[in-house]
Amino acid sequence: MERLPGFRDFYPEPLPHPDVWSADARQYIVERWRATARRYGFREYDGPPLEPLELFTTKSGEEIVGQLYNFIDKGERPVALRPEMTPTLARMIAAHERNYKKPIKWFAVPQLFRYERQQKGRLREHFQFNADIIGETSTAADAELIALLVDSLRSLGLSEADFVVRLSSRNAWQQFYAERNHDSAKAYDFFQTIDKLEREKPEVTQEKLRSFGFSIDEITAFIQRAEPTAELQQIVDNLAARGLSSFVKVDYQVIRGLAYYTGVVFEAFDRKGELRAIAGGGRYDNLINLISGGRVDLAALGFGIGDIVLLELLKARKLLPSFEAGIDVFVLIEDESLRNRSLALIQQLRDAGFSVEYSLTAAKPDKQFKRALELKSAFTGRLEADQVRLKNLRTREERLVPSSDVVSFLKNESRPA
Ligand code: HAM
Repeated sequence: MERLPGFRDFYPEPLPHPDVWSADARQYIVERWRATARRYGFREYDGPPLEPLELFTTKSGEEIVGQLYNFIDKGERPVALRPEMTPTLARMIAAHERNYKKPIKWFAVPQLFRYERQQKGRLREHFQFNADIIGETSTAADAELIALLVDSLRSLGLSEADFVVRLSSRNAWQQFYAERNHDSAKAYDFFQTIDKLEREKPEVTQEKLRSFGFSIDEITAFIQRAEPTAELQQIVDNLAARGLSSFVKVDYQVIRGLAYYTGVVFEAFDRKGELRAIAGGGRYDNLINLISGGRVDLAALGFGIGDIVLLELLKARKLLPSFEAGIDVFVLIEDESLRNRSLALIQQLRDAGFSVEYSLTAAKPDKQFKRALELKSAFTGRLEADQVRLKNLRTREERLVPSSDVVSFLKNESRPA
């Protein structure tokens, strides 16, 4: 049986093949994301992977709706696997926002599903670190969030030489559009064209722009001027105060594909421009209002960092650590009549927090010792009457320790020098 195209298996290291996905690498980046979010005072939330189809069809915009994994469930309900986390968050906030002091700062690491054409950096499922701030209109919140994005990537060893956050503003584009075209209903279609500027064939883009009454030259000139709006300038200044200026630049080429963004938007890219976007986000001040049917009105902003492009970048920059797992003790059972007492020792060591392995079935002593080496055990332990013979596999030193002292002996030994 093959797995579905666009889905991944994650194996523990050492990997059976270089093209296989590493469960250890994924765990490593998720831990760094969580730790960085907590440093910024964010709390973790989660929601269901399956949602009513309607949560996404009206709020996220065409592009994502075309990529939905949706079906009718056995109760005749139209449902979809979540393609993004933001509508779920908006629903959760709308339901219980009164119980939380504003601004609300929450993060999540959901697995998301999009029926996309498989290509480099894009699969049909991915893990995405989401961080959002709810209930704050000040640009101080935008800057705080962008600083978190920068630090989440820095926590993995990436520097300003590796990535840049391109800052833009839907407000700036909205104004630019409205000066020339008064059909506001078409503004989102226009934004979509700008979003695809870098990926679409120039003839197709020109044709589309003409239909909105724009020339490519006007668009290029606007992007090249890159004149920061007042809100963008405040964000840039705030980030400069933190010493993070070199990680951001104003770039109106970014406009974002999702329909709900209202103000500042941004995307993180590798500096060499070889990969797809590492992360994307922005302000969505109307979404909670829309999802709550007008009941709750709260400003909001957030971002998502996907695991796929990020792992490609970390691999290319050789920033992934080696994930050689080791254990603390391998208990040798060379005499089967000692198995039960050995199990008691194993339990005692595990209760004390050590990682312990042993042979589940009778095995020759040399085979057991070989296994201890393969598992990169720090010690072997073997019962001898009321004592345990502990061998340090690095120094090859041996010690006979009374059973009652084994835990304290090992704790002492594993203390960093
Ligand atoms: P997004 O730009 O659609 O934004 O996705 C954010 C990031 O997730 C992308 O930059 C990319 O790294 C990753 N990603 C998205 N789709 C795929 C895919 N098919 N394969 C691999 N990686 C992918 C959002 O989803 C927004 N909801 C983010 C947000 C949170 N905005 C406000 N709060």
